[in-house]
Amino acid sequence: MKPDSRALETRFHVAVALAREAGQVARRRFLDRKSFTVGFKGPQDYLTEVDGEVERLIAGRVQSLFPEDGFIGEEGDDRIGRDGAAIWVVDPIDGTSNFARGAPHFCISIGIVVGREVEIGVIYDPMVDELFAARRGAGASVNGAPIEVSATAELKAASIEVGWNMRSGSHRFLALMGRIVDAGAAVVRSGSGALGLAYVAAGRRDGYVENHINAWDCLGGIALVREAGGYVSDYLTGDGLHSGNPIVACNPRIREALLKTSAIEGLVP
Ligand code: IPD
Repeated sequence: MKPDSRALETRFHVAVALAREAGQVARRRFLDRKSFTVGFKGPQDYLTEVDGEVERLIAGRVQSLFPEDGFIGEEGDDRIGRDGAAIWVVDPIDGTSNFARGAPHFCISIGIVVGREVEIGVIYDPMVDELFAARRGAGASVNGAPIEVSATAELKAASIEVGWNMRSGSHRFLALMGRIVDAGAAVVRSGSGALGLAYVAAGRRDGYVENHINAWDCLGGIALVREAGGYVSDYLTGDGLHSGNPIVACNPRIREALLKTSAIEGLVP
């Protein structure tokens, strides 16, 4: 059964509490670097025991509180929920490469989807104690203070994060980066797509683009950008939830220019 507004409100508060709880676990382990080993799922695809530990903590709490809900986690703790129920989409540690290498820029990301709507987004950065939260129709905030996207009106003055991964190939990444640099924008890559999107929502960056991103990396951030007044391409189109999709997210003033410049297949201004 589809959750009503009260049921979503409850999930919002639980997501906030869980992100903070999980964030404290991640922070503790990060600061005690000898407590975990670092491995790889594939080339440049870092994995630590902490990713699985944090995901199991969140998945277990969600299952006991909302047994009807679905769950999709980066580390595979998936569960199919009842028809129409909310689906929790969780990255236990987004920015794993930073986490693994001792760079304090990572977060817990939780997105909650109902049907094709991203209803809730919660992203917690435990190293600077910043909790970004959004509920569809209710705005976005950081540590309780409202946030909004930037007012930058042209790419020449913009700062754009270009997400990088090994899935889409070097040519597509370099071509995308090249087009954005040629348009005069400053380019950033922070290693956490979720925080990149949260920063767009908070007006700290003007846009985020990536040729392919997985749902656990971006759904929390998508809710934030939209509720902060920003534009996000139709990420859940096709099988985005399970297979990922490209993304363009930005303030509405540079929407057309960024879509045109990115020229990502299927995303048109
Ligand atoms: C990655 C990061 C990165 C993004 C990649 C993701 P992970 O997630 O969010 O910034 O560009 O697409 O795979 O491995 O740190 O959870």
